[in-house]
Amino acid sequence: MLDPLSFNKIYKIWLIGFMGCGKSTLGAVLAKALGYKFLDTDLQISAQEGFSVAQIFKEKGEHYFRDLEKSLVAQIEQVPSPLVIATGGGLPLHAPLQGTIIHLHLDFESLYIRLLNDPNPRPLFKDKESLFTLYQQRAPLYERMAALNLDAQGTPKDLALQIMGFLAPKA
Ligand code: S3P
Repeated sequence: MLDPLSFNKIYKIWLIGFMGCGKSTLGAVLAKALGYKFLDTDLQISAQEGFSVAQIFKEKGEHYFRDLEKSLVAQIEQVPSPLVIATGGGLPLHAPLQGTIIHLHLDFESLYIRLLNDPNPRPLFKDKESLFTLYQQRAPLYERMAALNLDAQGTPKDLALQIMGFLAPKA
């Protein structure tokens, strides 16, 4: 386990990227490797509301869900301990983040195949064409706000090692 203080007081590590890029899987591996706590914003919101994200979108609408995301970000900022946070794909576009932002990038075709085979329904995944439009809109925004852009094709362990190398204090 690494001493959080050796990371220049970087306490909040936000994983961002398009739906299906592997933020949650990597987040759990990275948090364990760093000895940080792990939080998945979609899971947290589902637990708080008692409904799945898909149900929240259906019953209350996207705007309501984005408000939940914003207030969760405000709550996370108050957490005094180190955290790795896996965000929902739209969260960083609706709520400004403070901390270290890491973008997991994946090509569109790989994401599309992953989402087709994923049992977790994404309310914003309606068809390939509109998904591609969303991807084209978001990819440059993710890239611009991240301190580190990573190719998400690697294994979670390899990606976690790359992130730890990036975070480690430089001599
Ligand atoms: C969303 C991504 C989803 C979830 C919701 C909206 C988005 O999370 O928050 O369906 O706007 O891209 P994942 O990125 O974990 O799929």
